[in-house]
Amino acid sequence: MRQPLVAGNWKMNGSMDSVKTLAEGIKAGIDTVTTAEMAVCPPYVYIPQVASMLAGSAISYGAQDVNDQEAGAYTGEVAPGMLADIGCKYAIVGHSERRSIYGESDEFTASKFAAARKAGLIPILCVGELLEEREQGITEQVVARQLDAVINLEGIEAFGGAVIAYEPVWAIGTGKTATTDQAQEVHAFIRGKLAALDAAVADKVQILYGGSMNPGNAEQLLAMPDIDGGLIGGASLKPDDFLAIGKAANA
Ligand code: PGA
Repeated sequence: MRQPLVAGNWKMNGSMDSVKTLAEGIKAGIDTVTTAEMAVCPPYVYIPQVASMLAGSAISYGAQDVNDQEAGAYTGEVAPGMLADIGCKYAIVGHSERRSIYGESDEFTASKFAAARKAGLIPILCVGELLEEREQGITEQVVARQLDAVINLEGIEAFGGAVIAYEPVWAIGTGKTATTDQAQEVHAFIRGKLAALDAAVADKVQILYGGSMNPGNAEQLLAMPDIDGGLIGGASLKPDDFLAIGKAANA
């Protein structure tokens, strides 16, 4: 049985004040979430503040990105070991905004994935197709290519210590959620692809859905057999909505 994971991606939002309010709000209601693990990924600069606020709670935290190098002359970058050092459990890699706005390739993403694991972090690997790719009927090829970059570099075993997030790019921040069937279909494809290489790894890996997930659609999505949680953007900035998504996974 895979434990559901609901992770909040706060993106480039917040201030010391708003982050305090948000973390306090989530902490205050966390006891109502009985089954899912809840995690938050604040902007780098607020991670230590959030970490100290969440100390002693069941809420995990992580980063929204990570560099693939261990240390050195990489101005502006943050190394995976630094994130581990401040207690991060997770690092999102390959978010579609990194891929599309900053041109990060499948290979670079795979290299970040490898570096995160090496530092003891659990990478949350985002995969997903653009609208035109869905319309061309190549969703599975795109997702397979994104997964293959990691499999080629790290081997299938690497997914034993990782999380995958399927995020159709056209559903991110748009209010357009994939239907439960559309999402389940791709989740099953991902699990099947991994299972062809290692059934035990495929059975264990959590595959989250991301893209306009909210309290109104979470329960239906989370009820699908291969949807093991959510990567939540907009709704993770509202404690009540974020907690409601977590509660939707209550057994
Ligand atoms: P959204 O973002 O929930 O605002 O669509 C999800 C994500 O980008 O991870």
